[in-house]
Amino acid sequence: MKSLLCWLLILLRLQCFLPTKFCEETGQVFAVFGEEVTLRVSVAEEQEIRKILWVSSRGVLIATSYPGRPVEIREDFYANRLTASSDGSIILKDVKKEDGGIVKATIYLLDGGDCSQTFNISVTGKCGKSKTVSAKVGGNVTLQVEESYVGDRFWERPVGVHFATTKPDGYIDLRGSQYNGRLMGSHDGSLTVTNLSAKDQGDYRAVLYPVDGVFCAQMYNVYVSGACSGLSAGVAVYVITGITTMFTIKFRGAKADLQI
Ligand SMILES: *[C@@H]1O[C@H](CO)[C@@H](O)[C@H](O)[C@H]1NC(C)=O
Ligand SMILES: *[C@@H]1O[C@H](CO)[C@@H](O)[C@H](O)[C@H]1NC(C)=O
Repeated sequence: MKSLLCWLLILLRLQCFLPTKFCEETGQVFAVFGEEVTLRVSVAEEQEIRKILWVSSRGVLIATSYPGRPVEIREDFYANRLTASSDGSIILKDVKKEDGGIVKATIYLLDGGDCSQTFNISVTGKCGKSKTVSAKVGGNVTLQVEESYVGDRFWERPVGVHFATTKPDGYIDLRGSQYNGRLMGSHDGSLTVTNLSAKDQGDYRAVLYPVDGVFCAQMYNVYVSGACSGLSAGVAVYVITGITTMFTIKFRGAKADLQI
């Protein structure tokens, strides 16, 4: 039994030394012209990042980032346009047409391993104004897409995080599990979220493809009425605490009265 345990430990250690080649496959990133976009790195939870080299498809070193430290920008084209988030992911501001293309991040880990992650950036415009939709808790909300768009619709929430793809024939492909059977596609490629809860409130983005052009981004603001937002929940607790305090004081007062 003891030797088995030893072998297991040795195997585990050996696994630690095997280099991880890819952190994630090529990711499609949609960036709206003039806005900002985050290139998010993702490594296994237990792994810690030492530094990240960011290289363009032309082989030019764009920047070096480190978790918890300011990014070092290596290319004038990106001067004043790059910042890093706490995990070393980079945020590119004031997106230009020339930012489109492949960016490769080579991630060096604290344990000596490394892996690479590729971002395929498409620079898009906006499809139109943001659409506001609302429904009650437990109800359904449909994020409508006009029929003039063709091909896949990419759904993101938060902006930049792809969670579903729909097609005009009602096909739907899900990533992640937070919607747990609550998403439906429809004949025009619109997306319906059913059985809404407070957590569903917020901004959604669809990346759409018009017949005659390049991708565009459509924003949706979803409001869920009857949902306690963090603030109103806080106020409710405050009110209840207040009432309890009042009762306690009254009760004590009554008790004091009785004793007198
Ligand atoms: C990058 O994205 C564009 C637009 O979707 C696509 O045409 C191209 O094939 C992609 N390139 C790679 C290497 O994935
Ligand atoms: C939401 O959609 C589901 C599935 O189509 C349906 O069964 C349900 O009745 C709808 N709920 C409301 C409140 O419209």
